[in-house]
Amino acid sequence: MIKGCIFDLDGVIVDTAKYHYLAWKELADDLGFDFTKSDNEQLKGVSRMHSLDILLKIGNKQFNEETKLKFAENKNKVYLEYIMKMTPGEILPGVIDFLKELKSKKIKIALGSASKNAMTILTQLKLTDYFDTVIDGTNVNKAKPDPEVFLKGAQSLNLKPEECIVFEDAKAGIEAAIKGGFKCVGIGSIDNLGKANYTMQGFYGITFGKIVELIN
Ligand code: BG6
Ligand code: MG
Repeated sequence: MIKGCIFDLDGVIVDTAKYHYLAWKELADDLGFDFTKSDNEQLKGVSRMHSLDILLKIGNKQFNEETKLKFAENKNKVYLEYIMKMTPGEILPGVIDFLKELKSKKIKIALGSASKNAMTILTQLKLTDYFDTVIDGTNVNKAKPDPEVFLKGAQSLNLKPEECIVFEDAKAGIEAAIKGGFKCVGIGSIDNLGKANYTMQGFYGITFGKIVELIN
């Protein structure tokens, strides 16, 4: 029986990918190479430092660890400037109704995100009260596709993986959920997320009861 839901943040609850893109693009521009929106797809679900490595590979650039940390720090400053301007109006369609339905049905709710900015984003969107627990980039050691973030989420909710559904928009996140023994729902295109138990474009018009039916 499903007793909990674990949500990825970026791309599931809010579309922050566009702000990550703008912030990374500023760095690429400074370093003098092109970084396109399609390149940005490779950074979805990937940790900050790994994203930087992918970006530098695209630009065919190499730097020492100290410089890379500086780049990542600067990128995050730019990213946070965008985040601090976000409003609850940017929460993706249907998410709030879905969270409210879970609350009314006493289904536990966790966040399972790679982002170190997760708490800042939830606060900015006025969403913190919905979550029973938040596991994010500040308390995991192994990045998705390792299942650590979701296993910690389930553990913190006092549930077994098979009692939880993971909602993810990144391929690495779906792999992590499967490895951890979770049921999972992909948010986005089936081409990318075909391994999920069910794939949908977003939460608009869908209910928890319907999802439970669809994943079984
Ligand atoms: C993931 C995003 O949720 O978090 C990635 O999909 C991002 O694009 C990663 O790189 C880390 O985020 P942050 O906020 O810690 O830089
Ligand atoms: Mg995501």
